[in-house]
Amino acid sequence: MVVKEKEIIDWLSERKLMPSPELITHISNHPDGLVLLEKSVASIDGPKLFLSVSDLLIEDNPEPPKPISRPKVANIPPVIIERQIDKSMADGKLQSFVSLFNDRFTTLSRLVRRNPSMRGAGPLSVLNPDEENQAIGMIAEIQTFPNGRTKVVIEDKDNRINIMLKEEEGNPLNLLNDEVIGVSGKLNRQGNLLYVNSPIVRPHLGRYREAARSEEPYIALFISDIHLGSGTFKENEWNKFVSWLNGEVDYHKEWIPNPGYLVIAGDAVDGIDSYPGQEDDLSITDVWEQYSTLSKSISKIPNTIQTVIMPGNHDAVRLMEPQLPLPDRVIKDFGDNLTFTANPVLLNLAGVQVLCYHGKSLDDLVSLRDLTYEDPMSMMKELLNRRHMAPIYGAKTPLAPEKQDHMLIRDVPDIFVTGHVHSFGIERYNGVLMLNPGTWQAQTDYQKMMGFQPQPCRAVAVNLQTFDTQVLDFNF
Ligand SMILES: [Fe+2]
Ligand SMILES: [Fe+2]
Repeated sequence: MVVKEKEIIDWLSERKLMPSPELITHISNHPDGLVLLEKSVASIDGPKLFLSVSDLLIEDNPEPPKPISRPKVANIPPVIIERQIDKSMADGKLQSFVSLFNDRFTTLSRLVRRNPSMRGAGPLSVLNPDEENQAIGMIAEIQTFPNGRTKVVIEDKDNRINIMLKEEEGNPLNLLNDEVIGVSGKLNRQGNLLYVNSPIVRPHLGRYREAARSEEPYIALFISDIHLGSGTFKENEWNKFVSWLNGEVDYHKEWIPNPGYLVIAGDAVDGIDSYPGQEDDLSITDVWEQYSTLSKSISKIPNTIQTVIMPGNHDAVRLMEPQLPLPDRVIKDFGDNLTFTANPVLLNLAGVQVLCYHGKSLDDLVSLRDLTYEDPMSMMKELLNRRHMAPIYGAKTPLAPEKQDHMLIRDVPDIFVTGHVHSFGIERYNGVLMLNPGTWQAQTDYQKMMGFQPQPCRAVAVNLQTFDTQVLDFNF
């Protein structure tokens, strides 16, 4: 049913509400517009006069975003942005936090329930005192005891319960606040504690579609963390890379993506004020000058190579994730073969689904047992297992209270790319090609102090038809 615009205006004016033009268009095009409007108006606290799209409730099944197809620049499918934040809806209202966590819980609990052992899970309020129960909830508190037991509070939309878990030898629980898990067990006699007697279930990693491959053997090249403007930016090696892209360096020329794709997974420049005293480490102290130098360098890349630039925590966008694309002030200096995306972004490169996330949350994941900065692949597995790119809210990864959770891994990608940690990795996991191409910045004083050795000047090439890969090392 399509609602007429006049109907919407009349309905709202009866309730003394003035709609924005976008709201009227949105509701009239929506298949269930008046129902959504009615629910949204019912949830408004306090007096209100103007009503805009941002006042509408996020539905449990938000319409899938419309892919954005970039201009075709060569004889190769254009870059398609399948999914990313297009504008910030964070208003700091309590209702927005509730929507964010509802979206997270609804999506992840549905994925946990895809595990056959969790099919019987119902709301936490209806656990049976005499039988085996399955329960799905979001972790609200974790308390570890010296005897190897862990007490956890999990909650769903209406209730919370205590559960008791025991860690099995060689299989760390690695629980994180705000992740969604499923458990089975029996209630204690008082009915206030569930003793878990089987392994915990995390969101399902299966996909609803076949793994995708391109029809032609197109090459996609992945790099990250150029940090142009830093005093330790590896300028000579970078210039060698750009010359190589032009076919001027005799090194694995068969992997030059021409035509093809080049993806830059964040921290293109070093930025300013990223950490106290950064100014002393910079060779270019003005961030706009850093971008203008980058644009000059990127303009030397053949324009038949479609280049994607995603921001990271050093870039000139808000620090809170999801991050919006770089501002027009930066974009205007770059050519038409460039695509500027948000962070994270789900790309479609010649039919292959590529999930790119800069990786700030790896600073949180590293605190889990057995994980280190030297091994980004193990941390990426933990993100995939939780189907979430930034599982912990309120730790080292600043997250914006958007009404939808843009950090969810809603669909299992074919390729998953991160950067940020400046160490290299490539691995296949559950049908996903995971990679972190490292950096173009040599060791900084801070990294030296921390005993961290980065792995600079590498790119990873992927043949999108065969999924063969090649590590390209420009340290020569
Ligand atoms: Fe970085
Ligand atoms: Fe970073």
